[in-house]
Amino acid sequence: MSEENNKPKPADRRFATKLLHFGAEIDEHTGASSVPIFQASTFHHHDIFNPPDFDYSRSGNPTRQALEDYIALLEGGARGFAFASGMAAISTSFLLLSAGEHVIVTEDVYGGTYRLLTSILDRLGIESTFVDMTDFDAVKATLKPNTKAVFMETPSNPTLKITNIAETAAWAKEHGLLTMLDNTFMTPYHQRPIELGVDIVLHSATKFLSGHSDVLAGLAVTADENLGRRLKQLQNGLGTVLSAQESWLLMRGMKTLQARMEHSERSARRLAQWLSQHEEVKAVYYPGLEGHPGKEIHEKQSLGYGAVVSFDVGSGERAKTLLSKVQLPLVAVSLGAVESILSYPAMMSHAAMPKEVRHARGITDGLVRYSVGLEDIDDLIGDLDQALRA
Ligand SMILES: Cc1ncc(COP(=O)(O)O)c(C=O)c1O
Repeated sequence: MSEENNKPKPADRRFATKLLHFGAEIDEHTGASSVPIFQASTFHHHDIFNPPDFDYSRSGNPTRQALEDYIALLEGGARGFAFASGMAAISTSFLLLSAGEHVIVTEDVYGGTYRLLTSILDRLGIESTFVDMTDFDAVKATLKPNTKAVFMETPSNPTLKITNIAETAAWAKEHGLLTMLDNTFMTPYHQRPIELGVDIVLHSATKFLSGHSDVLAGLAVTADENLGRRLKQLQNGLGTVLSAQESWLLMRGMKTLQARMEHSERSARRLAQWLSQHEEVKAVYYPGLEGHPGKEIHEKQSLGYGAVVSFDVGSGERAKTLLSKVQLPLVAVSLGAVESILSYPAMMSHAAMPKEVRHARGITDGLVRYSVGLEDIDDLIGDLDQALRA
């Protein structure tokens, strides 16, 4: 066997090692310790009869390519794609569907995905049904002759409901449906949906993957090459690509994914426990808590519970007091950063949802979402306690 064949392949390594040694971590021309930023829109044809691998940065850019291969490796898929935002990744993937087709969607899906489906894709003739995916019979009942896809988000946003991924993907496959899953909350460190039968994994890489509240990006990974070719055509055709600079910055953040997720998850577990015993808190949503209805299923399909904890303080007034009294977390849209972020879904991520729909999905006026960062957990708890008692 040649020396080349004896070398361990990145795919054979454990997750923490893959994060650092993903194949493009050393520039082969200079030995530089990071992927170069190819800040070029176009590429010279040295030989017009032999076009270069990269010819125009919308169609392909070496820095973006390194990121796309990196996420495909982490998710265990065939092809990766990097987009200008999570919504660019999601909307481009939905355009695999055509007018007259129908998609089944997790009921309390991210507000932007809801907006895309109900105010943009519906105009193009793509129909959607939102369903509580914790109820498999309800999911099966939504199947129509024109159903072509299932879109899952688990844990869902912001009430952290759990969908049984393998069961839903197997059923979808039986009916020839494409399955897509938004894996933003878990990241491939905690959950790898392709191993459970999903066709396309999607990310708002703006969140845990980049991890520093300084990049807006989206990623998609297809389970097979054929789907990869179809998504590539859409990415190039729509031009929804991520820039070389942002691709580099995202890779920089991803290298510390495991270290960040481990720390934040440990803290989130403590925070959820503490909140569940707090007299000012009416309900806590975290799949790691005893009594969470999806805990058992989540534990079968994921390697951890993540770093997002939602809780209800009983009313909009109390939520607003809390938001004005906390001193450590950013009070902001978004999640998944080194600093903790406290969000108010009713007025932020889910503002696009009509109030009745929002309430029916458990996104009450008293619900807040805490994304736990890397601060000392005792300081975060102390800060939250004074704000809850205010
Ligand atoms: C679960 C989830 N999916 C998708 C998105 C959209 O991602 P982006 O804001 O990067 O477009 C978000 C953003 O908050 C999200 O939380």
